[in-house]
Amino acid sequence: MSSPNGLFLTLEGTEGAGKSTNVFRVCQTLDHARIPYIRTREPGGTEMAEEIRECMLRSRQESVAGLTELLLVFAARTQHLETVIKPALAEGKWVVCDRFTDATFAYQGFGRNLNLAQITTLEGWVQGDLQPDLTLFLDVDPVLSMERIRGRQLDRMEQEEMDFFIRVRNGYLRRAKQFPRFKIVDASRSIEAVQQDVQSIVELRVTHWLKAQKSASQDTE
Ligand SMILES: Nc1ncnc2c1ncn2[C@@H]1O[C@H](COP(=O)(O)OP(=O)(O)O)[C@@H](O)[C@H]1O
Ligand SMILES: [Mg+2]
Repeated sequence: MSSPNGLFLTLEGTEGAGKSTNVFRVCQTLDHARIPYIRTREPGGTEMAEEIRECMLRSRQESVAGLTELLLVFAARTQHLETVIKPALAEGKWVVCDRFTDATFAYQGFGRNLNLAQITTLEGWVQGDLQPDLTLFLDVDPVLSMERIRGRQLDRMEQEEMDFFIRVRNGYLRRAKQFPRFKIVDASRSIEAVQQDVQSIVELRVTHWLKAQKSASQDTE
């Protein structure tokens, strides 16, 4: 490929863990290093995918089958990948994404007890071998993180019972042990301490990425 590839960075965690807060810090760090990037989120990130998000998360009278939810997430993801994420990476930009497929395994897999092998099949179908390069998991006891968002208007997912979020957190922790791309950040600490860790992790990755870019461009000279 002629253009160097960007880097795909995702942030994960239960509601109130601090994803939005730390996406902001990631972007500040990239601004400072003059790294080109886009900031996006899942489900969503395109006009159509945001409509699917709204459809999925709206509270409604009818009960929503877990499989419906799963297929909606992957439909939105396909649109997001094809029209936003892949083109940005191909242009050499970093993609900073608030949630991605780890959330699908954690919420629909571990949270809703849907079949993990089926999720893996859909993942392969939609993503091929594309995976995030770096995943920051903001780990916090859901009892604490739900307390942080008390007073916020809760969507359909956020209205689940505490046991659901405990399963989700444990699902994330299982995946974090399984895949070396994960960095676990203890998000029960102060905002400043968490942001400092996030910044250090991103700065280190920026340094490695710039080095790799430089040696790749020397190879083609
Ligand atoms: N480490 C932290 N300690 C205390 N409060 C936090 C911390 N991180 C985030 N918050 C606060 O908790 C709330 C939820 O944070 P937010 O970043 O929106 O979480 P998320 O995007 O993961 O749902 C916000 O009011 C934010 O200011
Ligand atoms: Mg958020």
